Amino acid sequence: MRNTIATLNAKKAAGEKLTQLTCYDYTTARLIDKAGIDFILVGDSLGMTMQGYTDTLPVTLDEMIIYGRSVVRGTQTAMVIVDMPFMSYQLSPAQALENAGRIMKETGAQGVKLEGGKDVAPQIRAITAAGIPVVAHIGMTPQSVNAMSGFKVQGKGEANARRVLEDALAVQEAGAFAVTLECVPPKLAALITRKLSIITIGIGAGNETDAQVLVYQDMLGMSGMKPKFVEQFGQIGDAMVDAFKAYSDAVKGGTFPREEHTFAKSDCTDEFLAGLDKEY
Ligand code: KIV
Repeated sequence: MRNTIATLNAKKAAGEKLTQLTCYDYTTARLIDKAGIDFILVGDSLGMTMQGYTDTLPVTLDEMIIYGRSVVRGTQTAMVIVDMPFMSYQLSPAQALENAGRIMKETGAQGVKLEGGKDVAPQIRAITAAGIPVVAHIGMTPQSVNAMSGFKVQGKGEANARRVLEDALAVQEAGAFAVTLECVPPKLAALITRKLSIITIGIGAGNETDAQVLVYQDMLGMSGMKPKFVEQFGQIGDAMVDAFKAYSDAVKGGTFPREEHTFAKSDCTDEFLAGLDKEY
């Protein structure tokens, strides 16, 4: 059975912490699903992790749909949320609804995520009114990297803390079932979590949110990125480099492939092959 808003809310009500990881492909989705992660985010961070851009701005809706549907195919239990990329919802509630609808129809995901607080409340209202679950995203919102002059902690200082709390209340009121709090001070994230009834998902926001999310390449030591809020739960990047080197050494050294890696012997006789050898 796949997780739903109801099953996630039941876990929150039971005091269970929820887990989320980003994911962008079928193979990794199968592994994350097998590990029992509650919900997956097909984040537009794929612009950096999968496409090598320096930020998320170039990512298109069509790209999100391709990655999103691969992840959905790899999952049975995790709820899958797909990010709405830069400029796919900012123009109007109608644009947001149309594009959220495309994501749902063309990926099979169970919800969408978009960045912003009060400013995007009309968009959240329009999308949720159509029966599409929405995760909001406030605090440090990477699509606004230029306006924020970099990827910086948000909600420092009294006026900023008030703004982040008001954004959280606004997205809840607009119908979001969860809100991601990125890079906000832990005490503020804890306060927001107490004030809201919806699920709070923290990244760089301390340990008092209902859920945590990490970019999977960061937590596996694959990305070469180790922001302060990341713990590397594996060193898969090094393990991959070691395996790639071992393969290269084996091919160059003539120890791969061996007999057990080859298909059934040819039906042709040695005489026939010797004839072919002469002929060509
Ligand atoms: O795009 C993304 O991966 C995200 C997470 C970092 C929350 O928004």
